[in-house]
Amino acid sequence: MAEILRIPLGFNNAYLIKDRQYILVDCGQAEDAPRLLKELRKNGIDRGDLGLLVITHAHPDHMGSAAALQEELGVPVAIHRAEEDFLVRGRSAPIIPYSWEGKLVNSVLYKKAAETGKPVKVGLTYEDQMDLAEFGLDGLLLATPGHTLGSSSVIVGEEAIIGDLLMMVPPFAGVPGVPWFAEDPIALWDSIKLLRQRGVRRVYPGHGFCWEMGLVEKLLRERLIPKKGRLNPVGLSVGKL
Ligand SMILES: [Fe+2]
Repeated sequence: MAEILRIPLGFNNAYLIKDRQYILVDCGQAEDAPRLLKELRKNGIDRGDLGLLVITHAHPDHMGSAAALQEELGVPVAIHRAEEDFLVRGRSAPIIPYSWEGKLVNSVLYKKAAETGKPVKVGLTYEDQMDLAEFGLDGLLLATPGHTLGSSSVIVGEEAIIGDLLMMVPPFAGVPGVPWFAEDPIALWDSIKLLRQRGVRRVYPGHGFCWEMGLVEKLLRERLIPKKGRLNPVGLSVGKL
């Protein structure tokens, strides 16, 4: 039975999946590499021990350490085909603000994105979904676009590691919400519904702690109702969950 271990890296999470092999999902920012390598080594992982590094999407806070991990551990990297080129060029996928908070921090993130830098050798890409059995995991990589066009989730039984498909609403780490950035808000909404259709009951975000899908649905339904002058354009254009 697979075990999902959250590795907190400041505001970001990486996840180590322990099954017949080890799979790492996301790897924080470039400066997180030493800390992440230390955590992996604490779990007995050294060069050649990590079966796969999955990047949920090519934003600097999810892929930043990929080049360093590749160099240190010799791990193959997987990402959705739509975002392969960003990784190869060491650049960020578009960061499109979707809320006022997103607009506020956008200039900082763009600066960060420009600094992302090191090119990553991509070993595997996929289109709609990819079975992870050959990497020792009874699970799959599933396209869940919205936050970026090539965003992915890793599905393991009733659990899913979702990158930034949802994110915590600061400063309330326990509260899930829609991300501040979405390249395609309609697709984002469909991806959340897709996870439910796939029987996912618990999600692990790139920022925040794990959430039960029931809580996610409840809070997102509430956000459909305009409050304090804030509207949710996803909800208004697509309808209820
Ligand atoms: Fe992101």
